[in-house]
Amino acid sequence: MKTTRNFGDEIELGAIADESGRITIIESSLHAGFKIERVYFLHSLKSDAQRGGHAHLELCQLMVAINGSFTLTLTNGGQTKVIKMGNPSVGIFVPPLTWRSLHGFSPGATCLVLASAEYDESDYIRSRLEFEAISAKSLQPGQ
Ligand code: TYD
Repeated sequence: MKTTRNFGDEIELGAIADESGRITIIESSLHAGFKIERVYFLHSLKSDAQRGGHAHLELCQLMVAINGSFTLTLTNGGQTKVIKMGNPSVGIFVPPLTWRSLHGFSPGATCLVLASAEYDESDYIRSRLEFEAISAKSLQPGQ
């Protein structure tokens, strides 16, 4: 599935409500823009935790604050977006070659992550210097 999502796009997930509560649904085609192959969530986070601090070579992700709030900072080499996460009805699209940092967790903050592939450590870029070099190369005309 070729995604039409862009860096940091807010994807409206919506919610179906009745008097008892709300349900939010995430589907590959309708919301993620990629086939969801893995689901994980960050939880039990300390308020001063710093998560992320890496990018991926090929992985696409959709991130949702399903409880509480935190700050998500995305950088793609040319642009930085600082996103206040706290709405469980909105997902943020994180494409490949995006450096992400998550911090400022409220009590009970939980970040759901939907990913386009199973875990593969070789897809990670964990060095900021390496990320900047790869991003600069990918931004060059003809790449
Ligand atoms: P990492 O992706 O670095 O976490 P974060 O971005 O939240 O700081 O993963 C933390 C650890 O968990 C690392 O040792 C890799 C491992 N891990 C898996 O084994 N499988 C997975 O699907 C994920 C996301 C992480």
